[in-house]
Amino acid sequence: MNLHPNTQAVRIQTSRTNEQEHSTPLFLTSSFCFENAEEMKAAFAEENDNNIYTRFSNPTVQEFIDKICALEGAEAGFATASGMSAIFGTFMAFLNSGDHLLSCSSVFGSTHTIITKYFKRWNIEYSYGDIRYPETWEALIKPNTKMIYVETPTNPGLDIVDMEWLGKLAAKHNIILVVDNCFATPVLQKPAEYGAHLVLHSATKWLDGQGRVLGGVVVGQADLIRELYLFCRNTGPALSPFNAWVLSKSLETLDVRIQRHCDNAEALVKALEGHPKLNWIKYPFHPSHPMYDIARKQMTRGGGLVTFDLKGGVDSGIRFMNALQMLSLTSNLGDSRSIASHPASTTHSKLSAEEKDAVGITPGLIRISVGLEHSGDIINDILQALEKS
Ligand SMILES: Cc1ncc(COP(=O)(O)O)c(C=O)c1O
Repeated sequence: MNLHPNTQAVRIQTSRTNEQEHSTPLFLTSSFCFENAEEMKAAFAEENDNNIYTRFSNPTVQEFIDKICALEGAEAGFATASGMSAIFGTFMAFLNSGDHLLSCSSVFGSTHTIITKYFKRWNIEYSYGDIRYPETWEALIKPNTKMIYVETPTNPGLDIVDMEWLGKLAAKHNIILVVDNCFATPVLQKPAEYGAHLVLHSATKWLDGQGRVLGGVVVGQADLIRELYLFCRNTGPALSPFNAWVLSKSLETLDVRIQRHCDNAEALVKALEGHPKLNWIKYPFHPSHPMYDIARKQMTRGGGLVTFDLKGGVDSGIRFMNALQMLSLTSNLGDSRSIASHPASTTHSKLSAEEKDAVGITPGLIRISVGLEHSGDIINDILQALEKS
């Protein structure tokens, strides 16, 4: 049967063992046994598909990868211990000394740190395109540009990159296009459809959805994944089978969860519209978003993250955070529980005013990861905290 990706996210499962379990088994093992030396020799020669060692492959981890491949429409994948190991592994597997990366300053903070602080150790160059002026990006491509790396929507700016345009640009110059699809998830957008060669995730966020485990995954073109696999099986960022089991179970409910996160985010945006304490609200599917048309073109819905800017700046942000009664103050997103964060006083506090401006962090910016609680409770908590901000 030709199954819909959402059905595959529910139904893909490691072959049933002799115990006849219904729920998927967990292969919490470091290594795998062989019947005899010949079989072992063949496994090492890659003449059969036997698992050897969990740093290379594991059935529970593979189940998680297979589901993400189905959801993203990708040929193959590799799962890692965190989103950052997926990103770092991707950079290291494909970028050589002397290569150039084209990216954008609006990428996740640790990704920005790898690019700006560590790349020089390996003589890897980079350029950042300005997300507001995509027409300026092509001029940044050099003969040694090997990879284009973007995130859309961005964290925490919620800016949008036009993937159709970027896919064409990467194809024209024969450059590997990598998209961090963490914020949208494959429920809301599938970058491979626009020409992304590799799509990666911090599985720690919406894919888990309950704030329990760290994980990462890269999926895409089989030949590229093979290169990534060979790099990772030797350098060791493998995903734990336990975390893979948790993540695989989470994917059974990904679509329904994301739809409800979007419902609640839309209700919140509506309740905040025109609020006197706010300069603006930002949400990909709100007509005031500067890239609204692009968001509508490439996403099915606006996602579970909403940002707004408090008129009172940093102090107001701190008062807002302190006044919240239900929302969690925690450094994560994509949880069933709603989360508030204030980048200017936390994650981005060390950035200069200029740097903050470049990535859209205003002093009063609040990011809400809208959870699965009753929308009225989320809205009421935020409205009462706004009164005290
Ligand atoms: C867009 C994005 N990419 C990557 C990461 C890194 O993921 P992890 O924390 O799983 O290493 C994050 C974490 O917040 C993120 O938001």
